[in-house]
Amino acid sequence: MAFFQTLKFLIFLRLLFLNHALANGITFDIVSLGAKPDGKTDASFVLQTAWTKACGSSTPATIYVPNGTFYVKSGSFNGPCKNNAITISIDGTLVASSDMTVLANTKAWIWFKNVNGLSISGGVLDGQGTDLWNCKHSKKSCPDGVTNLQLSNAQNVIISGLSSVNSQMYNFVVNDCQNVKMQGLKVSDPGNSPNTDGIHVVQSSDVTILNSNIATGDDCISIASGASNLWIEGITCGPGHGISIGSLGKEVEENGVKNVTVTSSTLTGTQNGVRIKTWGRPSNGFARDIHFKHIIMNNVNNPIVIDQNYCPHQQNCPGKGSGVKVSEVTYEDIKGTSATEIAINFDCSPTNPCTRLSLKDIKLTYGNQIAQASCKNAQGSASDVVKPSSCLV
Ligand SMILES: *[C@@H]1O[C@H](CO)[C@@H](O)[C@H](O)[C@H]1NC(C)=O
Ligand SMILES: *[C@@H]1O[C@H](CO)[C@@H](O)[C@H](O)[C@H]1NC(C)=O
Repeated sequence: MAFFQTLKFLIFLRLLFLNHALANGITFDIVSLGAKPDGKTDASFVLQTAWTKACGSSTPATIYVPNGTFYVKSGSFNGPCKNNAITISIDGTLVASSDMTVLANTKAWIWFKNVNGLSISGGVLDGQGTDLWNCKHSKKSCPDGVTNLQLSNAQNVIISGLSSVNSQMYNFVVNDCQNVKMQGLKVSDPGNSPNTDGIHVVQSSDVTILNSNIATGDDCISIASGASNLWIEGITCGPGHGISIGSLGKEVEENGVKNVTVTSSTLTGTQNGVRIKTWGRPSNGFARDIHFKHIIMNNVNNPIVIDQNYCPHQQNCPGKGSGVKVSEVTYEDIKGTSATEIAINFDCSPTNPCTRLSLKDIKLTYGNQIAQASCKNAQGSASDVVKPSSCLV
């Protein structure tokens, strides 16, 4: 009897193992499905087919993009899916059209919507943005441009080791998502490419961005309304406009930004270091519980900045000051060099002064001297050695 029970148990184990092997084993290789790594045959349809199969699978599924260059006219990958463990494993490069009119009527080139449980690893996305940047530089009327990769209404996503180059507009957008981890990303766009933010997070919570290298023409990371519980660590930024919360407060009714930490990062030759930026307009928005620490500034124009008077072309800002309430912002262990005399600039709202700002262990130099600090409507405290000395009241 014991013998048969053991046998049954072994058979059971064997079935379990088989199921498990199957569970990890459904792979859709886009070359096997007909995609050509020649950089010019459109692989959109094959990718779509692979996605439909992976998304429709009731067990975990992998889409594999082998080595080589695949032209992808556009990729729109929608859920909800039948499983919550889709992997997209990329060894090769996906390249967009170099013709800026091809995606003129959409917002993102590679776009995932309504997906829960997605992992993307490796590979390169080449947005071929040169035509569009040239158009924007020449001040002709141009399409807005598209984001290289966007997540919309997605949960439990990991993106690792993915490179984004030459994006028309933003490189990565995380919009209306929960629990997204991005690590080991590489963004590479020219320093003069317009609107090419590295990673843009909006209306999302629990987003972690780790160990990523961002060189671009706009913000390395931009954090917009409704973002909360963000952890950003190990970023190198430059060229670019720095790490920015904002612009906030463009709308009267707007969700605030809260609980953001940026730590252990280096900014080199950027326009700003760590910035909070709001429109000088009425709004019920806010930015609070924001922490910047262990940051190295190398020749940064505005290392520490709060600018609540943003108003391009001085239009539509009825002179009342920003309604966005900025509070509980801490700066700790921020060292290095400023490319301008004023290294700390708190230009807060006359109607809603910044409150509970805190400076601790800061040393920023300009040339071979200590830089300067400027405060308007800024309340808070300083501790440890702070150079330039704090002007908070
Ligand atoms: C991919 O292709 C490149 C260029 O042909 C080659 O150098 C590289 O080793 C290949 N990688 C893999 C994983 O096959
Ligand atoms: C703040 O965000 C971090 C993630 O960065 C999270 O671990 C923590 O629980 C959040 N705190 C609150 C009070 O939500």
